[in-house]
Amino acid sequence: MNYRHSFHAGNFADLVKHALVLWLLKARQSQVAAGGPVTVIDTHAGAGLYDLTGDAARSKEAEAGVMRLMAAEGLPPAIAALADEVRAVNDGADEVRFYPGSPLLVARALRVGDGYRGFELNPPVVDLLDQALAGFANASGEAGDGYDRAMEVARGVRAPLVLIDPPFEKPDDYVRSAETAMSVVGADRSANVAVWTPIKDMETFDGFLRRLSGDVLVAEARLRPLTNPMKMNGCAMVMLNAPDGTDAAAAEVCGWVAQTLGEAGAKAEVWRL
Ligand SMILES: C[S@@+](CC[C@H](N)C(=O)[O-])C[C@H]1O[C@@H](n2cnc3c(N)ncnc32)[C@H](O)[C@@H]1O
Repeated sequence: MNYRHSFHAGNFADLVKHALVLWLLKARQSQVAAGGPVTVIDTHAGAGLYDLTGDAARSKEAEAGVMRLMAAEGLPPAIAALADEVRAVNDGADEVRFYPGSPLLVARALRVGDGYRGFELNPPVVDLLDQALAGFANASGEAGDGYDRAMEVARGVRAPLVLIDPPFEKPDDYVRSAETAMSVVGADRSANVAVWTPIKDMETFDGFLRRLSGDVLVAEARLRPLTNPMKMNGCAMVMLNAPDGTDAAAAEVCGWVAQTLGEAGAKAEVWRL
């Protein structure tokens, strides 16, 4: 396995994904009937916390992403919530050294009774995940294939929020993401699923979307026109059964990212299948 998220931590795509993860969790917490517990299942958890002085400093992706976020003023609420979390994991310091991944962002937002189960295949990353979640009694990182485990765990809880965030380095990642998303909502119509995907070229993105059906919300942030399919030109969060209000929050997040971090021809679009 070659993929190392530490090179990409805090890039524009993480900002889109993580601002929307925070929004979805908060919306689920206020929506689930009678304040019942929310279980978050994270198929591809990663390390949980990233030191941006390492691989990320070499790639400069965080410099073009989270560093600009933290220097910006007048942020719309959905992206300001992520900036607040980044500030908190840096103990309020002005300099941003650490960036939280989905496990830590979710673990910090859990209420008593809520839970987080994150799955990770790469053994050294599983160790880092354990360390990042050590202080959180209702959050756990586990070694295993996230697609397979998500289905097992989802069957045992009501209305889970399932995050699917593969590296897309294997040819079947698009198919397995779509199949997992459809089986989760097929088994429990009250489940929410969010799949993060890169946008390189339209054919690949369109091929993925055609595997989905039902209540599907697509939130895209494109940094540039899709003229070079070898580049990550943008990204999308594709959400099934998204809670009310997600369209507006996604427009805020994707709009801010495209407008502030994009090049000529950048655009944000939020639409339904
Ligand atoms: C994009 S990163 C995850 C980032 C994380 N979701 C976040 O937002 O902070 C993808 C991770 O998935 C792991 N991985 C790859 N294939 C996997 C699989 N089938 N099941 C679980 N983890 C996998 C990789 O080792 C990598 O750490």
